[in-house]
Amino acid sequence: MSSPKKLFIKTYGCQMNVYDSERMAEAMGNEGYLLTEVQEEADMVLLNTCHIREKASEKLYSDLGRLKPLKAAKPDLKIGVAGCVAQAEGAEILKRMPLVDLVVGPQSYHRLPEMARAPEKTVDTEFPVEDKFDLLPERKAPRGPSAFLTVQEGCDKFCAFCVVPYTRGAEVSRPVGRILDEARKLVERGVRDITLLGQNVNAYHGEGPGGAWTLARLIRALAEINGLARIRYTTSHPNDMDDDLVAAHGDLPALMPYLHLPVQSGSDRILKAMNRKHTAESYLRLVERIRAARPDILLSSDFIVGFPGETDRDFADTMDLIRAVGFGQAFSFKYSARPGTPAAEKDPVEAAIADARLQELQALITTQQRAAQLAMVGREVGVLYDKPGRLPGQLVGKSDHLHAVFVEDAQGKVGDLVRVRIVASSSNSLAAERIG
Ligand code: 5AD
Ligand code: SF4
Repeated sequence: MSSPKKLFIKTYGCQMNVYDSERMAEAMGNEGYLLTEVQEEADMVLLNTCHIREKASEKLYSDLGRLKPLKAAKPDLKIGVAGCVAQAEGAEILKRMPLVDLVVGPQSYHRLPEMARAPEKTVDTEFPVEDKFDLLPERKAPRGPSAFLTVQEGCDKFCAFCVVPYTRGAEVSRPVGRILDEARKLVERGVRDITLLGQNVNAYHGEGPGGAWTLARLIRALAEINGLARIRYTTSHPNDMDDDLVAAHGDLPALMPYLHLPVQSGSDRILKAMNRKHTAESYLRLVERIRAARPDILLSSDFIVGFPGETDRDFADTMDLIRAVGFGQAFSFKYSARPGTPAAEKDPVEAAIADARLQELQALITTQQRAAQLAMVGREVGVLYDKPGRLPGQLVGKSDHLHAVFVEDAQGKVGDLVRVRIVASSSNSLAAERIG
């Protein structure tokens, strides 16, 4: 028997890509490919790309350039490009990088095995009517107690800076039955913590018994699954946080007290130019409602600085909003003009100004993140162990609030959900002692 072929996958960008890479690995597993962490020993290299900012997208080309010697040494090596750059650039990638064998967009992953078998170069960036997840093989046992589950893809919001509506297409929700099935199977295989994924996850409107279900209704049904201890969802748009979803944060112990809720800017003028369709004030009111339902919730957000037309005043409004909310963490980016998006037509903010604003914003967020961590010291929280620590007898896990927590626990093991008391905070993690 010939030895199994080896597949190396590099995943760029968001959690949706992490989920997709797992599903592609499983599909290729059925073709006899084993995953490898060593690129040099691979028979196939798959780059699952991100198009969200220019830097992310350019990384593909530098990584492809670095693959040239390997392809020269191993002419049979298959090189595939998946993800959002594949969708956006399609056959252009083959022109620019002749070493690439196949280009597959996010809606066509069920076709990957067949494309990998084809002797000629192939490109598939269609938006087919069928659900690729139905056509992909069933989920295998995940590696740890936590798993992602994609429930929704695409976006109809068309924020002026964003490529997602073009690369991932219109909003599509998976049916309720399929999601509940997949969740139950994950739990049977040892998963205790599921993060529901979607580019606009709280716009979920999948078909279920009685018609279209909201995300809140889906989460309420998931919370009934025995053994599923923790549920999270990401990424949400503020305008889709309906009353029932806010209430669910108060009602459901399994819905974890952590919410990523991108606001992008604190200036109404810029929010309007971004086509966000909410204001700083409406965001602040929403945060109040969420905190009324779940007072200890930790909020996270995304910010863009240097959006075309952003003045010092606009930036000051963003800093004010950050001070008013108090985030547990946040991701912030310098605006990057993306071809084909409306904002790309506008005059950019001077790079040095945008850089300075980004630094200032990140310093404030770091202060808030440290304060949020420090406020945990002395408190009792749940921790789900997901890996061994560096020291013997130490385990690392995620707290309810998604902090990384180190615990000395010689009796514990990966997959245990334990009660701890937080005893110390360092820059990016907490230390705790087990109490139950
Ligand atoms: N430039 C900079 N940041 C962007 N994001 C999306 N598009 C751009 C862009 N063109 C950020 C937003 C979004 C996150 C995933 O990436 O903050 O919420
Ligand atoms: Fe992009 Fe999110 Fe806006 Fe949709 S809601 S266009 S994914 S930033």
